[in-house]
Amino acid sequence: MVFESHHPLVKHKLTLMRDSATKPKKFRELIREISMLLCYEATTDLTTQPRTVETPMGRANGVELLHKVGLVPVLRAGLGMVEGIWEMMPGAEVWHIGLYRDERTLKPVSYYNKLPTMPTVQVCLVLDPMLATGGSATATVDILKRWGAERIKFVGILAAPEGIARLQGAHPDVPIHVAHVDERLNDIGYIVPGLGDAGDRQFGTG
Ligand code: PRP
Ligand code: URA
Repeated sequence: MVFESHHPLVKHKLTLMRDSATKPKKFRELIREISMLLCYEATTDLTTQPRTVETPMGRANGVELLHKVGLVPVLRAGLGMVEGIWEMMPGAEVWHIGLYRDERTLKPVSYYNKLPTMPTVQVCLVLDPMLATGGSATATVDILKRWGAERIKFVGILAAPEGIARLQGAHPDVPIHVAHVDERLNDIGYIVPGLGDAGDRQFGTG
């Protein structure tokens, strides 16, 4: 399933992120904010269990999250998506996965993974702003499934149809939550119209 956001705030912030005049500081603020909104939409079906608390006025029946959530940012660009989401879910664990896309072959190259032997969370949110060819997202989900992750969601900002087809083809059980599905990839594997290189635009390295 692909969930494309229709929230006006998401669309507004995405437009600012696309604008090549937006500087890294502002870009980092926007990625933090848009990630919170996307995470809000991606977590509407998390399982809860009943919890009763005492208010100053009496007893209230409420709920608490049943499952432990893991945030899995894909380095580097996924890093900017962590902070805002973590503020909303301070009990989440953060597990980094290091992958970069070989510029020539467009294939993902793995360089960092410190996952412990056994899974420690029940729900994983893979955080990566760009789903381009889908190679990096598919490799990340492969790693998480080999680890034993039961439930995985992909949360990104922009997707190309090619990336969606690849991730869905390999992992049809992983829902894809994005701000927008763009037109296509160009001949060097960049999303068009896209926003450019999400890592470079955050870290000022372009
Ligand atoms: C970007 C992006 C994804 C990947 C998407 O990372 O953050 O991880 O490309 O492309 P794909 O869907 O074709 O695999 P990049 O390789 O540029 O590394 P960086 O985040 O370290 O800059
Ligand atoms: N990675 C990016 O950062 N941007 C793209 O458009 C494609 C891959």
